[in-house]
Amino acid sequence: MDAHKQLTIGLFGFGVVGEGIYRVLQQTPSLKATIKKVCIKNPGKKRNAPAELFTTDKDVLLNDPEINVIVEVIDDSNAAFDIVSTALKGGKDVVSSSKKMIAENLPELLGLQELTGRSLLYESAACASIPVIRNLEEYYDNDLLHSMKAIVNGSTNFILTKMFEEKLDFQEALLMAQQLGFAESNPKLDVEGYDAVNKWSFLLTHAYGIVEYPEKLVFTGIQNVQGGDAKVAREKNIDIKLVANAQKLQNGKVAAFVLPQFVKHDDHLAFVKNEYNGVVIESGFADKQFFYGKGAGSFPTASAVLSDLSALRYQYKYEYKKLKHHRPNELTNSSM
Ligand SMILES: NC(=O)c1ccc[n+]([C@@H]2O[C@H](COP(=O)([O-])OP(=O)(O)OC[C@H]3O[C@@H](n4cnc5c(N)ncnc54)[C@H](OP(=O)(O)O)[C@@H]3O)[C@@H](O)[C@H]2O)c1
Repeated sequence: MDAHKQLTIGLFGFGVVGEGIYRVLQQTPSLKATIKKVCIKNPGKKRNAPAELFTTDKDVLLNDPEINVIVEVIDDSNAAFDIVSTALKGGKDVVSSSKKMIAENLPELLGLQELTGRSLLYESAACASIPVIRNLEEYYDNDLLHSMKAIVNGSTNFILTKMFEEKLDFQEALLMAQQLGFAESNPKLDVEGYDAVNKWSFLLTHAYGIVEYPEKLVFTGIQNVQGGDAKVAREKNIDIKLVANAQKLQNGKVAAFVLPQFVKHDDHLAFVKNEYNGVVIESGFADKQFFYGKGAGSFPTASAVLSDLSALRYQYKYEYKKLKHHRPNELTNSSM
């Protein structure tokens, strides 16, 4: 039996996440996973790994029959989709962190998994270290998931925390987030809610079987939250947070959106500060459950990739149970 599959990895990307995976695998020899080759973009960059490991030719990895897993952690969503689809079609399993690529191409990626029978896992793409996708798939495999609300973007949460706790204005807080590496140099993706809605779109698939392009969801970011708003909220003893929401309505439809919201201090999400993420799930019998952890960073993200690799040894696949085995829920923009 092939229960403990030996993993020979082709790694795409050696940035924050890619190098984290390289280091984490060095510290987990029991996984029996080895990186055979790493594909990067700029050959001139200095790397903290042996030079012979690197190539800029993607086909060296994609055409190597010994490589049975592609780990794709690059920052170019078009190139990422090309790599991931070629790998699946070539009979390789894939682990990816590229949330934008997944959100923009989910219908195609679902089709490719079905067509090839290969596995595509992406736990690290939403909430990094928090194991939310596999829990939604496996643990909440029923129709009693009443609601899910979450803070899924660490940069905006960091900015809002600094505006509330240190009374910084928006620009000062954003600059601090950039200096500490929590926000992109072009922060539009984070600040205007694109990153959060990208993650929310595929979390909705695992929670409710909804497959929808992110731009079809109602969303906005924190670009219009002012220091004055923070002051008023503080006076009323509440926070403002960028909250992703999904709520099953009485008519069976699911209302979903990503918007800045007032959050009372006794709400679980009020506990989520700085670059952390949190997810509150409310289900029929268990009542509320709260997942909390680091939503970004080299090792926290690599930890979720490691968990996906470990699952691949047992041929684990997402079954998309809510989509394929239950009647998928319908999305609505109405909250009634
Ligand atoms: N950083 C986080 O905390 C985090 C958390 C969850 C998910 N993610 C996602 O993980 C992915 C990687 O993020 P990151 O922070 O590690 O990015 P990063 O530090 O900017 O690194 C990106 C890497 O991708 C490589 N690359 C870009 N285009 C490529 C191509 N066409 N072929 C081969 N390599 C290519 C770059 O090569 P060079 O080194 O040669 O420039 C670089 O090594 C992104 O999709 C991001 O959204 C990141």
